[in-house]
Amino acid sequence: MNLKEKAAKKALTFVKSGMTLGLGTGSTTAYFVDMLGEKVSSGELEDIRGVPTSKETEERARRWGIPITTLSEHPVLDLAVDGADEVDPALNLIKGLGRALLREKIVEVHAKQFIVIVDESKMVARLGTRDALPVEILPFEAEAHIQWLNTLGCRAELWHEDNGSLVITDNGNYLARCYFDEGIVDAYALGRKLSARPGIVEHGLFLDMATEIIIAKEDGVEILERKK
Ligand code: A5P
Repeated sequence: MNLKEKAAKKALTFVKSGMTLGLGTGSTTAYFVDMLGEKVSSGELEDIRGVPTSKETEERARRWGIPITTLSEHPVLDLAVDGADEVDPALNLIKGLGRALLREKIVEVHAKQFIVIVDESKMVARLGTRDALPVEILPFEAEAHIQWLNTLGCRAELWHEDNGSLVITDNGNYLARCYFDEGIVDAYALGRKLSARPGIVEHGLFLDMATEIIIAKEDGVEILERKK
């Protein structure tokens, strides 16, 4: 079992029959959805439903026969489980390199408990030091948004597929990737600036959202809990 599977398996122990779940996106969460699907199809877990955070996750959940629901039908999620690209010591996250950050954030703010599943390589001392911060932007005047992002102390660029076409999200928007040489010094201040800017649809800083981080390591699994 690889580390991602190990983290997913631990998260499954938090799922109880009757729960409404937020279902994240990415390779780690894919293991979780598969493990959940097995338990739902075997009848070990009953009366489960999920709100998916991407078309990809919705298809995966449907293949397993996991009932799909919406936030309007279930505005309070008992638990959301998702991966992350980076996790800092305060349990703040960068998410979205799996391209689903907007739906992830929309769904995960509705969760009473939000468990993040990662392997130890995702743990960082400061956000923005491992990879880029993804930012979902409106296609209208996209280059202007990129120019503005470049004034924030990072190198920002439009995200392209390998074939040169622009990455388009499930929501029909573009994505920017912002590279910070020294990492993000004040993630809260940056988050506020990004949220206030027209044309920036959403950013990948998930601050004060995770309640637990499950970290799979070679020698076991560690769980970090947010201080209440
Ligand atoms: C999806 O948009 C992301 O937020 C993912 O949760 C994140 O990229 C982690 O993905 P992996 O589990 O594939 O590393």
